[in-house]
Amino acid sequence: MPRAIKIAPSILSADFADFGREIRAIEDQGADWVHVDVMDGHFVPNLTFGPPAVKAFRKHVKTVMDVHLMIAPVDPYIEAYAEAGADILTAHIEAGPHIHRTLQAIRGAGMKAGVALNPGTPAEAVAHLLDLTDLVCVMTVNPGFGGQKFLDMMDKITRLREMIGDREVHIEIDGGVDPTTAPLVTAAGADVLVAGSAVFRGGSVDNPQVYGQNIRAIRAAATGAADAA
Ligand code: DX5
Ligand code: ZN
Repeated sequence: MPRAIKIAPSILSADFADFGREIRAIEDQGADWVHVDVMDGHFVPNLTFGPPAVKAFRKHVKTVMDVHLMIAPVDPYIEAYAEAGADILTAHIEAGPHIHRTLQAIRGAGMKAGVALNPGTPAEAVAHLLDLTDLVCVMTVNPGFGGQKFLDMMDKITRLREMIGDREVHIEIDGGVDPTTAPLVTAAGADVLVAGSAVFRGGSVDNPQVYGQNIRAIRAAATGAADAA
């Protein structure tokens, strides 16, 4: 059975003055999840939004709100993101010394727990976390900005898929995903593809069909590879 591929557009590439309509547009056009990039200007050199904004997004998300925290520390904010309505909350392993506790706390607050790995962090870093996590996010850019060039992390993805075995853990790829790179990562074992610029490019809330074309192009490329793998 081929793995079901999920496309998670990142609203980092949306119109920041129109999040509600942007979220509805990408979902109407076939997004499986909505990826929300939280940045603190400290863990990463960019700043986006916090719990009140994420709570406001929730009202528009009908699918799955996938919240990617690029913040340090994480633990003091877990409850706020649960209250904001995150379905999946992902923390970076590099954000502090106690990721094990963080993942326990995320599940304890009723959310699915994700762990993200920067490009310089090896797959083995999550070896003792796989029973505590629902999703491993492999960064294929250095986090902080959309529109960066894809970094080849295929050996890391392959290794993670072996390590995960028959556990129900998603492998999510974040950064530089487009119809060219999507088949490479799905062939290596990824099943959730975050895409910012490759989904929003050329479209707008007044021309949302372009979002649909972009999502379908990524999915077609990714699914062909997954079926062949
Ligand atoms: C990067 C973010 C990504 C970003 C991806 O720090 O975590 O989710 O929006 O953007 P693209 O798809 O443009 O590389
Ligand atoms: Zn992200």
